[in-house]
Amino acid sequence: MKNFVAASIIAADFWSLNKEIEKLEKTEVKWIHYDIMDGHFVPNITIGSCELHSLIKKTNIPIDIHFMVNNPDYIIPNFLKLIDTKKIKNITAHAETVTNIKKLSKIVQNKNINFGLAINPKTSVNRILDNISYIDLALIMTVEPGFAGQMIISKCIKKVEKLKNFLIKNNLDIPIQVDGGIKLNNISLLSDVGANIFVSGTGIFKTKDYKNTVKEMVKIIDS
Ligand code: DX5
Ligand code: ZN
Repeated sequence: MKNFVAASIIAADFWSLNKEIEKLEKTEVKWIHYDIMDGHFVPNITIGSCELHSLIKKTNIPIDIHFMVNNPDYIIPNFLKLIDTKKIKNITAHAETVTNIKKLSKIVQNKNINFGLAINPKTSVNRILDNISYIDLALIMTVEPGFAGQMIISKCIKKVEKLKNFLIKNNLDIPIQVDGGIKLNNISLLSDVGANIFVSGTGIFKTKDYKNTVKEMVKIIDS
């Protein structure tokens, strides 16, 4: 699999979302990363199914949904009934909150959507290793989830390395996604240890030229 960049849409200017999407479409971004926060698992509330309906109509860029919620076993199956799933490429839930990972992953995969499992900075990477047979993607958070615009927590880089070594040793082709605080000036730290999908919010939307920013990121993660 080729490494790529995903844009975290909560860092965009929501008042000008049309323009933001038009600009994103000119970049090499492969996924729009869509952060759903419930105000319980994290101290913030973001976007849900209504905004997703509108977004899906506006773009052909595949969507990657990151659920930061307390009750993913309940909310994700219901969410899947509400939305047109054609453009949804991946759905990720947190290992800290899913009660039945095997069951939830089947529900998601039956819709032809990849299932991702995420871990917070303080959660052991073993939670991913223990559930590796149920997942299509592993998300290692590089900030405490809840907000865009935070600084990367550098001790999370070691977890990426540990997971990568495990995947290589076991000949497993599961992409490692990293999310939080990733910018042009630190993306190499994560690509050097084997991450594959790089989520960036403010690292793209707070720059002048999205196309050029993503192009420079791709140069680094490709080399
Ligand atoms: C954090 C979210 C991230 C965040 C990324 O809870 O899951 O996706 O929006 O934004 P930046 O790149 O600004 O940290
Ligand atoms: Zn996210």
